[in-house]
Amino acid sequence: MPRKKLSARAVYQQYLWLVMTGLLMSSIVSLAIQASTSQFWVAGLPENVSAENNNPPLVETKSESHQPLITLEDIEPKQHRAYQALEPFQGQTISKVTLSPYQKAIALTFDDGPWPRTTSKVLDILQQHHVQATFFVLGSNIPHYPDLLKRMAQEGHALGNHTWSHGYHYHSSALAQRELQRTAAAIEKHTGIKTVLFRPPGGFLNNGLVAEAHAQQQVTVLWSVDDIYHGTVDQVVQNVLQNATSGGIVLMHDGGGDRSLTIKALPQVIFQLRQQGYQLVTIPQLLEMAVMEERAGK
Ligand code: NI
Repeated sequence: MPRKKLSARAVYQQYLWLVMTGLLMSSIVSLAIQASTSQFWVAGLPENVSAENNNPPLVETKSESHQPLITLEDIEPKQHRAYQALEPFQGQTISKVTLSPYQKAIALTFDDGPWPRTTSKVLDILQQHHVQATFFVLGSNIPHYPDLLKRMAQEGHALGNHTWSHGYHYHSSALAQRELQRTAAAIEKHTGIKTVLFRPPGGFLNNGLVAEAHAQQQVTVLWSVDDIYHGTVDQVVQNVLQNATSGGIVLMHDGGGDRSLTIKALPQVIFQLRQQGYQLVTIPQLLEMAVMEERAGK
């Protein structure tokens, strides 16, 4: 009986030793595994690169690291009365500009105003959403609606020349000069602004008007996104979103006809472009951004 008791204790002690050794071994092994795995993860990330940098945010945020390279505040003063065509763009035709991949900006432009009812609605929407746009105005409308033109300027929008009479036909040099100068004089008379931005009616490049604008070192501004003029509000919005690119120029109209579809879609166009991270800028601001980035060696 005592012998049996003794041997039972010996077996118990042997087992205890084995269990203790096993526990010790397994904890050493698990520590070793943990150490090697963390070593692996540390080695997996290149130095000085945070995981955040691989995923630039689509929506503009206020955080320090994701601030746009150029903010509107940097270029705000450039668009007003004393605006001169920036050297790289003088006498050039553009439909968009090149910006760095981290800079997301697009310009809304409106043609054929000032126009009763529709221009003031467009201005109301832009004001409500704090957007500044560019209006390519028709000289022959200005004497009829000078207050709308003044309002465009007062609310910080950029103005461009869209000729006096919106002709698509061939213009002699003298006629082209008259079309441009009459309009420029009317814009300046009511707003004090001397514009250097020109948009040819219908986008026609070879009827004498663009040649004259270039001779005067103006910038001919076409577009990279054309509004659609039939269909639903949703189709108008989707058309802009699908064709929007950074550095792009969106063509819409505030004058020259029934613009109710554009006006209905405009708040959504603004909202959705901003949702995608776009800054909405004027043409002078867009050109300024492109030149600043060029100089910064982007
Ligand atoms: Ni037009």
